[in-house]
Amino acid sequence: MTTTLITGGTVVNTTGRVEADVLIDGETIVGVLPPGSELLGSDLKRNVDQVVDATGKYVLPGGVDAHTHMEMPFGGTFASDTFETGTRAAAYGGTTTIIDFITQYPDQRVLDQYNLWQEKAAGNCAIDYGFHQILSDIQPESLTAMDELVDEGVTSFKLFMAYKGVFLSDDGQIFRAFQKGSDNGALMMMHAENGSVIDVLVEQALQRGETGPINHGLTRPWQLEAEATHRAIMIAEVADCPLYFVHVTAKQAAMQIAEARGRGGNVFGETCPQYLYFSLEDQLGAHSAERGEFEGAKWVASPPLRSKHEGHQDFLWKALRTNEIQMVSTDHCPFCMKEQKELGANDFSKIPNGFGTVEHRLDLLYQGVVDGKITLERFVEITSTTPARMFGLYGRKGVIQPGADGDIVVYDPDGHTKISADTAHMAIDYSAWEGFEIDGKVDTVVSRGKIVVQNDQYLGRKGDGQYLKRGTSQYLT
Ligand code: URP
Ligand code: ZN
Ligand code: ZN
Ligand code: ZN
Repeated sequence: MTTTLITGGTVVNTTGRVEADVLIDGETIVGVLPPGSELLGSDLKRNVDQVVDATGKYVLPGGVDAHTHMEMPFGGTFASDTFETGTRAAAYGGTTTIIDFITQYPDQRVLDQYNLWQEKAAGNCAIDYGFHQILSDIQPESLTAMDELVDEGVTSFKLFMAYKGVFLSDDGQIFRAFQKGSDNGALMMMHAENGSVIDVLVEQALQRGETGPINHGLTRPWQLEAEATHRAIMIAEVADCPLYFVHVTAKQAAMQIAEARGRGGNVFGETCPQYLYFSLEDQLGAHSAERGEFEGAKWVASPPLRSKHEGHQDFLWKALRTNEIQMVSTDHCPFCMKEQKELGANDFSKIPNGFGTVEHRLDLLYQGVVDGKITLERFVEITSTTPARMFGLYGRKGVIQPGADGDIVVYDPDGHTKISADTAHMAIDYSAWEGFEIDGKVDTVVSRGKIVVQNDQYLGRKGDGQYLKRGTSQYLT
């Protein structure tokens, strides 16, 4: 067993920061000690095998990205990152845990899909991983499967109010699943957009010959996210079931969550870096004569980017600060332009939906600290501690304290990062984040006591990551 000492840095937890050395024995943190290893017990001191010098740097709990779609079958193709490439890219960016979504389509059995995801991930991951289960067109068999999955450590379930015929469940189906979640302690998750109205708007736009990527956003207005969010909250209240909204983009949807929380509800939301940084106007700006209108396909995801004239982005930053929104995940679901996004060259509704961001989440949110939008402690909370608590991993993940897994990011506030597809490690042929600059840099990443990234080099091996059998949410009251 290797003993690792991370020395000279500033250890940051949600509760504050302290100058301290972190001692990891094998895979587990055994001490957060006053600086200066002379204070170590002589036995431990003799046995330190590797030292990471964190002088002048932050020592953070490894990032927990609770929303990824590795190899997701979607829109007639597969998300371009495999578990191998996607988790390695995550490690480069300081994320040491992902929770990926097992995908189930209406013609598939839930438990078959669970087994398939276990097979896909086993032996391939660079970092630890857990699963949520997507439930489509919920049938009695799916409700029974929910109980079995909770026992397997899949303690959260995503439902959809959009994508009719693909993922959508109607309100009655949603209500039954919520009742089951209320019964077995699972955390229900919602993709909140009014799919029936969107389908009409999409059909009408296509009939008018409006086929370019920007119409994706124009046919999914914020009202349809706010309405679905409100409806789901009301249904969850009747079912007495906690509810977590994935990828919140609209100010008015966030306000629905805040209002429900104000009334004491166990209602939560995540947002994603793309909704904090990009707007519909940015996507329109991609229509240059030189690059062509289809460039906008790079920013197609659901829900869509929102107009900067309506204040969504500023509101989401504020909501993160005030805990109206609890955390940030990536919704990592990358598709290359060539042969993937291009499937929608003549019809925006056929552009596979999603962004590739798993590698950049920590950097992009750290820039929020530099810009004075969130504190350093809140940054740790929304990228690591809350995701761990929300999804039943806290104690092992999300905190630097004795007994926790040795998952650490040494982050250099004097470093600099410039994002480019040329230097990133995700399996995607462009970067939606091309040219973004961050006043900080990932220095060293430790996953269960093993240095997996240092000096921009990957030092881990595929299969280092293990399946995380999660408990139920530790965030509920
Ligand atoms: O556009 C998105 N968000 N793609 C991934 C699937 C989902 O709805 O999360
Ligand atoms: Zn979704
Ligand atoms: Zn997603
Ligand atoms: Zn800079």
